[in-house]
Amino acid sequence: AYPFYKEQRAQQPVFPVGSENGYTSWIVTKYDHVKELLKSPSFMKDQSNLYPSSDRGNEAEKVNIFGNMMLDVDPPDHTRLRKLVQPSFNPKTIKQLEPRIREISDGLIEDMKKKEGSVNLVDDYAFPLPIIVISELLGVPAEDRDKFRKWSNTILAASSDSETEFVEDVEAFTTYLTDLFEKRREQPEDDLISQLLQTEEDGEQLSTNELYSMVVLLIIAGHETTVNLIANTMFALFEHPEQLKRVTQDHSLIPSAIEEGLRYYSPVDFSTARWSEADIDFHGNRIKRGDLVLASISSANRDEEKFENADQFDITRRRNAHVAFGFGIHFCLGAPLARLEGKIALEKLFDAFPDMDLNRTEPSPEWRQVFLLRGLDALPVRLSD
Ligand code: HEM
Repeated sequence: AYPFYKEQRAQQPVFPVGSENGYTSWIVTKYDHVKELLKSPSFMKDQSNLYPSSDRGNEAEKVNIFGNMMLDVDPPDHTRLRKLVQPSFNPKTIKQLEPRIREISDGLIEDMKKKEGSVNLVDDYAFPLPIIVISELLGVPAEDRDKFRKWSNTILAASSDSETEFVEDVEAFTTYLTDLFEKRREQPEDDLISQLLQTEEDGEQLSTNELYSMVVLLIIAGHETTVNLIANTMFALFEHPEQLKRVTQDHSLIPSAIEEGLRYYSPVDFSTARWSEADIDFHGNRIKRGDLVLASISSANRDEEKFENADQFDITRRRNAHVAFGFGIHFCLGAPLARLEGKIALEKLFDAFPDMDLNRTEPSPEWRQVFLLRGLDALPVRLSD
């Protein structure tokens, strides 16, 4: 995909990818354009007022657990929803989780040591770590993580040919949450769900739909992204052994290695959809009211007009102003958490297994074919020489 986007940035940086009922979908590829798009209030999240009913199938109406996610709404609703959870994700609050994240990481490392030298770094480490953390923060039982993984997967991969599975999984997810909310209402705990339930009860700031959507959003975001940050960065390091060696010996390079991992193999390939609020000329393209526009984050992060030697992985890169976490008012809420988890995850790995390497006797890792996300199915690693 990277050479394709390189070509597009040079030839046709904003391009149409299809049209339906007279509306066109566009992809934006250049760094500056991506920022402009994500910052502009003319490209909105809420599409409901843009069409005569039935013109464009309104996916958001299919089920209400997605209908009111902060990621899918504009101000003032967005501002109100984000404010409710922002305090739990501030860098200062997140910092307090550090000892617990270290403990979880240590536990996973101990389990890997029992596996006689060969592990799958995705399943055995990169996946469980962020899941356990977000589960504890929200107050959902971490033992149920396989269910969440399945549901998140189906929801993200939603396509017309898996409609039945989609509907079933959404139902199961909703029922699961209803039961959990019931329990927490009876007996509140010191977790984010109990706190949100309290807000919902007061009625003014959070509706029932919004409550479900919020929890679903946080579970999905917590399940599908940080795993890729950890695994993709490790994969890039295995592809560049001299840099792996350097950062293994000098942990002060870990934060910039994480930022470079985010830029080079961005875990989220595309922004979520924006809808044009008016007929707009966007860098020479006539974008009509109601058209859908997507920002290619991975393309922006390889834009050579912004990043010197953009196709080179360099853990010492300075001024690495990538847009892996998006930009503007929807900038990732979980960025401080993801960065901290990434940092601890790598530190612990390098300490425990300074000689680890890709298990080169196994087939080389492959990217999962999931739209929106860049992640590996598996990352087979041998832990020592
Ligand atoms: C939004 C990426 C981890 C929660 C976003 C957006 C991106 C992103 C690109 C903006 C999407 C858009 O504008 O269309 C990432 C990456 C992560 C990560 C690369 C890990 C490496 C997390 C985690 C959480 C989280 C761990 C929470 C537990 C959210 C939320 C939003 C968001 C709630 C919506 C914010 C809003 O609408 O105001 N993320 N994310 N993310 N992310 Fe993340």
